[in-house]
Amino acid sequence: MLRVDELISEERAIYNTLKPERLPEHVAIIMDGNGRWAGHRSLKRFLGHQQGAKSVQLVTETASRIGLPWLTLYAFSLENNLRRPRAEVNFLMRLLKSYLENNVQRMNDNNVRMQYIGRVHELPREVRDKMQWAQEETARNTGTTLTLALNYGARSELVDACRALAKEMQQKHISPDRICEEDLHRHLYTAHMPDPDLLIRTSGEMRISNFLLWQIAYTEIYVTERLWPDFRGIHLLEAIAAFQQRERRYGGLSDSVGEVEEDPEQMKIVAG
Ligand code: FPP
Repeated sequence: MLRVDELISEERAIYNTLKPERLPEHVAIIMDGNGRWAGHRSLKRFLGHQQGAKSVQLVTETASRIGLPWLTLYAFSLENNLRRPRAEVNFLMRLLKSYLENNVQRMNDNNVRMQYIGRVHELPREVRDKMQWAQEETARNTGTTLTLALNYGARSELVDACRALAKEMQQKHISPDRICEEDLHRHLYTAHMPDPDLLIRTSGEMRISNFLLWQIAYTEIYVTERLWPDFRGIHLLEAIAAFQQRERRYGGLSDSVGEVEEDPEQMKIVAG
Protein backbone atom coordinates (compact mmCIF):
# COMPACT_ATOMS: atom_id res chain seq x y z
CA MET A 1 0.00 0.00 0.00
CA LEU A 2 1.47 3.35 -1.07
CA ARG A 3 1.64 6.20 1.44
CA VAL A 4 3.77 8.54 -0.67
CA ASP A 5 1.88 11.55 0.67
CA GLU A 6 3.67 10.88 3.99
CA LEU A 7 7.16 11.31 2.45
CA ILE A 8 8.99 14.53 3.37
CA SER A 9 9.27 16.95 0.46
CA GLU A 10 12.93 16.12 -0.36
CA GLU A 11 12.05 12.41 -0.48
CA ARG A 12 8.99 13.14 -2.58
CA ALA A 13 11.13 15.01 -5.12
CA ILE A 14 13.34 11.93 -5.64
CA TYR A 15 10.41 9.52 -5.52
CA ASN A 16 8.75 11.48 -8.36
CA THR A 17 11.75 10.79 -10.60
CA LEU A 18 11.46 7.00 -10.10
CA LYS A 19 9.83 4.62 -12.54
CA PRO A 20 7.03 3.00 -10.52
CA GLU A 21 7.12 -0.15 -12.68
CA ARG A 22 10.81 -0.71 -11.85
CA LEU A 23 10.81 -0.34 -8.08
CA PRO A 24 12.80 -3.09 -6.35
CA GLU A 25 10.85 -5.75 -4.50
CA HIS A 26 13.57 -6.50 -1.99
CA VAL A 27 16.30 -4.20 -0.67
CA ALA A 28 18.99 -5.56 1.67
CA ILE A 29 21.35 -3.29 3.62
CA ILE A 30 24.74 -3.87 5.26
CA MET A 31 24.59 -1.18 7.96
CA ASP A 32 28.19 -0.17 8.60
CA GLY A 33 30.00 2.76 10.17
CA ASN A 34 28.38 3.21 13.59
CA GLY A 35 31.76 3.08 15.32
CA ARG A 36 33.35 5.56 12.87
CA TRP A 37 30.39 7.92 13.23
CA ALA A 38 30.97 8.00 16.98
CA GLY A 39 34.78 8.22 16.60
CA HIS A 40 34.52 11.28 14.34
CA ARG A 41 32.65 13.00 17.16
CA SER A 42 34.92 11.69 19.96
CA LEU A 43 31.95 9.75 21.32
CA LYS A 44 31.86 6.20 22.66
CA ARG A 45 31.04 3.50 20.07
CA PHE A 46 27.75 2.63 21.74
CA LEU A 47 26.40 6.11 20.93
CA GLY A 48 27.02 5.30 17.26
CA HIS A 49 24.96 2.12 17.60
CA GLN A 50 22.20 4.06 19.35
CA GLN A 51 22.10 6.57 16.50
CA GLY A 52 22.19 3.62 14.06
CA ALA A 53 19.03 2.24 15.63
CA LYS A 54 17.31 5.56 14.85
CA SER A 55 18.33 5.16 11.18
CA VAL A 56 16.81 1.66 11.20
CA GLN A 57 13.43 3.08 12.17
CA LEU A 58 13.48 6.07 9.80
CA VAL A 59 14.63 4.05 6.78
CA THR A 60 12.02 1.36 7.51
CA GLU A 61 9.29 4.00 7.61
CA THR A 62 10.31 5.47 4.25
CA ALA A 63 10.42 1.93 2.81
CA SER A 64 6.89 1.31 4.05
CA ARG A 65 5.63 4.63 2.58
CA ILE A 66 6.85 3.72 -0.92
CA GLY A 67 5.35 0.23 -0.60
CA LEU A 68 8.65 -1.71 -0.63
CA PRO A 69 7.58 -5.31 0.06
CA TRP A 70 10.86 -6.60 1.60
CA LEU A 71 13.61 -4.81 3.55
CA THR A 72 16.39 -6.92 5.10
CA LEU A 73 18.95 -5.38 7.46
CA TYR A 74 22.23 -6.92 8.61
CA ALA A 75 21.95 -5.98 12.28
CA PHE A 76 24.29 -8.44 13.99
CA SER A 77 26.58 -10.99 12.37
CA LEU A 78 27.88 -14.26 13.77
CA GLU A 79 31.33 -12.66 13.52
CA ASN A 80 30.17 -9.60 15.52
CA ASN A 81 28.99 -12.03 18.18
CA LEU A 82 32.26 -13.96 18.30
CA ARG A 83 34.84 -11.23 17.69
CA ARG A 84 33.60 -8.07 19.42
CA PRO A 85 34.29 -7.33 23.09
CA ARG A 86 31.61 -8.83 25.37
CA ALA A 87 30.66 -5.36 26.63
CA GLU A 88 29.82 -4.23 23.08
CA VAL A 89 27.88 -7.42 22.29
CA ASN A 90 25.92 -7.02 25.54
CA PHE A 91 25.19 -3.42 24.66
CA LEU A 92 23.94 -4.40 21.19
CA MET A 93 21.64 -7.01 22.78
CA ARG A 94 20.21 -4.46 25.22
CA LEU A 95 19.82 -1.96 22.38
CA LEU A 96 17.93 -4.49 20.28
CA LYS A 97 15.60 -5.27 23.18
CA SER A 98 14.82 -1.66 23.92
CA TYR A 99 14.53 -0.91 20.18
CA LEU A 100 11.82 -3.58 19.86
CA GLU A 101 10.02 -2.44 23.03
CA ASN A 102 9.95 1.16 21.87
CA ASN A 103 9.20 0.72 18.17
CA VAL A 104 6.56 -1.99 17.81
CA GLN A 105 3.83 0.65 18.02
CA ARG A 106 5.48 2.62 15.21
CA MET A 107 5.86 -0.59 13.18
CA ASN A 108 2.13 -1.17 13.54
CA ASP A 109 1.35 2.45 12.63
CA ASN A 110 3.39 1.88 9.45
CA ASN A 111 1.91 -1.56 8.70
CA VAL A 112 5.40 -3.16 9.02
CA ARG A 113 5.75 -6.87 9.78
CA MET A 114 8.88 -7.96 11.64
CA GLN A 115 10.83 -11.16 11.05
CA TYR A 116 14.35 -12.46 11.70
CA ILE A 117 16.96 -14.60 10.02
CA GLY A 118 20.10 -16.13 11.55
CA ARG A 119 20.99 -18.53 14.33
CA VAL A 120 18.62 -16.65 16.61
CA HIS A 121 18.25 -19.61 18.98
CA GLU A 122 21.79 -18.78 20.21
CA LEU A 123 20.80 -15.29 21.39
CA PRO A 124 20.06 -14.62 25.08
CA ARG A 125 16.63 -15.84 26.22
CA GLU A 126 15.27 -12.40 27.19
CA VAL A 127 16.23 -11.01 23.75
CA ARG A 128 14.54 -13.94 22.00
CA ASP A 129 11.39 -13.43 24.05
CA LYS A 130 11.25 -9.77 23.04
CA MET A 131 11.90 -10.70 19.39
CA GLN A 132 9.08 -13.20 19.41
CA TRP A 133 6.78 -10.67 21.03
CA ALA A 134 7.58 -8.06 18.34
CA GLN A 135 7.06 -10.63 15.59
CA GLU A 136 3.67 -11.68 16.97
CA GLU A 137 2.54 -8.10 17.59
CA THR A 138 3.26 -7.17 13.96
CA ALA A 139 2.37 -10.48 12.28
CA ARG A 140 -0.93 -9.28 10.84
CA ASN A 141 0.59 -6.23 9.09
CA THR A 142 0.53 -6.39 5.30
CA GLY A 143 3.01 -3.67 4.26
CA THR A 144 6.81 -3.94 4.30
CA THR A 145 8.33 -7.05 5.86
CA LEU A 146 11.35 -5.89 7.86
CA THR A 147 13.75 -8.79 8.34
CA LEU A 148 16.56 -8.31 10.84
CA ALA A 149 19.55 -10.58 10.29
CA LEU A 150 20.70 -11.41 13.83
CA ASN A 151 23.55 -13.73 14.73
CA TYR A 152 23.54 -14.25 10.96
CA GLY A 153 26.30 -15.59 8.69
CA ALA A 154 25.69 -16.66 5.09
CA ARG A 155 28.10 -19.59 5.26
CA SER A 156 26.43 -20.95 8.38
CA GLU A 157 23.06 -20.45 6.67
CA LEU A 158 24.31 -22.65 3.82
CA VAL A 159 25.58 -25.24 6.31
CA ASP A 160 22.18 -25.23 8.07
CA ALA A 161 20.44 -25.60 4.70
CA CYS A 162 22.70 -28.52 3.70
CA ARG A 163 22.08 -30.28 7.00
CA ALA A 164 18.31 -29.90 6.64
CA LEU A 165 18.38 -31.03 3.02
CA ALA A 166 20.57 -34.05 3.81
CA LYS A 167 18.14 -35.09 6.57
CA GLU A 168 15.18 -34.71 4.23
CA MET A 169 16.87 -36.77 1.53
CA GLN A 170 17.80 -39.49 3.97
CA GLN A 171 14.20 -39.72 5.21
CA LYS A 172 12.78 -39.77 1.69
CA HIS A 173 15.53 -42.08 0.33
CA ILE A 174 16.42 -39.61 -2.43
CA SER A 175 19.77 -39.89 -4.26
CA PRO A 176 22.16 -36.87 -3.94
CA ASP A 177 22.38 -36.78 -7.75
CA ARG A 178 18.87 -35.43 -7.80
CA ILE A 179 19.66 -32.30 -5.74
CA CYS A 180 18.88 -29.12 -7.63
CA GLU A 181 19.21 -25.41 -6.81
CA GLU A 182 15.57 -25.23 -5.81
CA ASP A 183 16.15 -27.89 -3.11
CA LEU A 184 18.86 -25.84 -1.44
CA HIS A 185 16.79 -22.68 -1.81
CA ARG A 186 13.86 -24.31 0.04
CA HIS A 187 16.04 -24.78 3.11
CA LEU A 188 17.52 -21.26 3.31
CA TYR A 189 16.30 -18.91 6.05
CA THR A 190 15.02 -16.73 3.21
CA ALA A 191 13.03 -19.42 1.37
CA HIS A 192 9.83 -17.38 1.63
CA MET A 193 11.30 -14.19 0.12
CA PRO A 194 12.40 -13.11 -3.36
CA ASP A 195 16.18 -12.56 -3.73
CA PRO A 196 17.28 -8.95 -3.12
CA ASP A 197 17.21 -6.73 -6.20
CA LEU A 198 19.44 -4.16 -4.53
CA LEU A 199 22.11 -4.49 -1.84
CA ILE A 200 23.23 -1.25 -0.17
CA ARG A 201 26.39 -1.00 1.92
CA THR A 202 27.11 2.13 3.94
CA SER A 203 30.48 3.64 4.92
CA GLY A 204 32.38 2.82 1.77
CA GLU A 205 33.74 -0.69 2.29
CA MET A 206 33.64 -2.86 -0.85
CA ARG A 207 32.85 -6.12 0.92
CA ILE A 208 29.94 -8.52 1.28
CA SER A 209 30.97 -9.63 4.80
CA ASN A 210 29.25 -13.02 4.69
CA PHE A 211 25.77 -11.57 4.01
CA LEU A 212 23.19 -13.45 1.87
CA LEU A 213 25.85 -15.04 -0.35
CA TRP A 214 23.49 -17.37 -2.20
CA GLN A 215 20.72 -14.81 -2.56
CA ILE A 216 22.79 -11.96 -4.07
CA ALA A 217 23.93 -13.89 -7.15
CA TYR A 218 22.24 -11.32 -9.45
CA THR A 219 21.72 -8.44 -7.02
CA GLU A 220 22.81 -4.91 -7.93
CA ILE A 221 25.28 -3.54 -5.37
CA TYR A 222 25.31 0.11 -4.27
CA VAL A 223 28.04 1.35 -1.92
CA THR A 224 27.83 4.78 -0.32
CA GLU A 225 30.48 6.59 1.76
CA ARG A 226 27.74 7.79 4.11
CA LEU A 227 27.95 6.23 7.57
CA TRP A 228 24.89 4.28 8.72
CA PRO A 229 23.89 6.69 11.54
CA ASP A 230 23.65 9.44 8.86
CA PHE A 231 21.65 7.28 6.44
CA ARG A 232 18.00 8.32 6.03
CA GLY A 233 15.00 7.52 3.85
CA ILE A 234 16.16 10.03 1.25
CA HIS A 235 19.38 8.03 0.82
CA LEU A 236 17.38 4.84 0.31
CA LEU A 237 15.51 6.65 -2.47
CA GLU A 238 18.81 7.85 -3.99
CA ALA A 239 20.05 4.26 -4.01
CA ILE A 240 16.84 3.12 -5.71
CA ALA A 241 17.25 5.88 -8.32
CA ALA A 242 20.81 4.64 -9.04
CA PHE A 243 19.49 1.06 -9.19
CA GLN A 244 16.97 2.10 -11.85
CA GLN A 245 19.83 3.35 -14.04
CA ARG A 246 21.37 -0.13 -14.08
CA GLU A 247 20.67 -2.69 -16.72
CA ARG A 248 20.05 -6.13 -15.26
CA ARG A 249 20.99 -8.96 -17.58
CA TYR A 250 21.11 -12.10 -15.38
CA GLY A 251 23.89 -13.48 -17.57
CA GLY A 252 21.95 -12.76 -20.75
CA LEU A 253 22.37 -9.98 -23.30
CA SER A 254 21.12 -6.43 -23.29
CA ASP A 255 17.90 -5.69 -25.24
CA SER A 256 19.90 -3.20 -27.32
CA VAL A 257 22.09 -5.95 -28.78
CA GLY A 258 20.68 -6.84 -32.19
CA GLU A 259 20.39 -10.26 -33.76
CA VAL A 260 23.46 -12.36 -32.95
CA GLU A 261 24.70 -14.31 -35.94
CA GLU A 262 27.01 -17.24 -35.85
CA ASP A 263 30.05 -16.63 -38.07
CA PRO A 264 32.39 -19.65 -38.28
CA GLU A 265 35.17 -17.41 -39.70
CA GLN A 266 35.22 -15.40 -36.45
CA MET A 267 35.58 -18.56 -34.37
CA LYS A 268 39.02 -19.45 -35.77
CA ILE A 269 41.85 -18.83 -33.38
CA VAL A 270 44.99 -18.01 -35.34
CA ALA A 271 48.19 -18.85 -33.51
CA GLY A 272 51.46 -16.98 -34.08
C1 FPP B 1 28.33 -1.63 12.08
O1 FPP B 1 28.96 -0.59 12.72
C2 FPP B 1 27.07 -2.01 12.63
C3 FPP B 1 26.85 -3.06 13.49
C4 FPP B 1 27.87 -3.89 14.07
C5 FPP B 1 25.53 -3.46 13.90
C6 FPP B 1 24.37 -2.70 13.36
C7 FPP B 1 23.58 -2.24 14.49
C8 FPP B 1 22.75 -1.20 14.48
C9 FPP B 1 22.44 -0.42 13.27
C10 FPP B 1 22.09 -0.72 15.71
C11 FPP B 1 21.13 -1.65 16.31
C12 FPP B 1 20.19 -2.28 15.38
C13 FPP B 1 18.93 -2.52 15.68
C14 FPP B 1 18.10 -3.31 14.75
C15 FPP B 1 18.29 -2.01 16.89
P1 FPP B 1 30.45 -0.83 13.19
O2 FPP B 1 30.44 -0.88 14.68
O3 FPP B 1 31.03 -2.01 12.51
O4 FPP B 1 31.11 0.48 12.66
P2 FPP B 1 32.65 0.72 12.32
O5 FPP B 1 32.99 -0.22 11.18
O6 FPP B 1 32.67 2.16 11.93
O7 FPP B 1 33.40 0.43 13.58
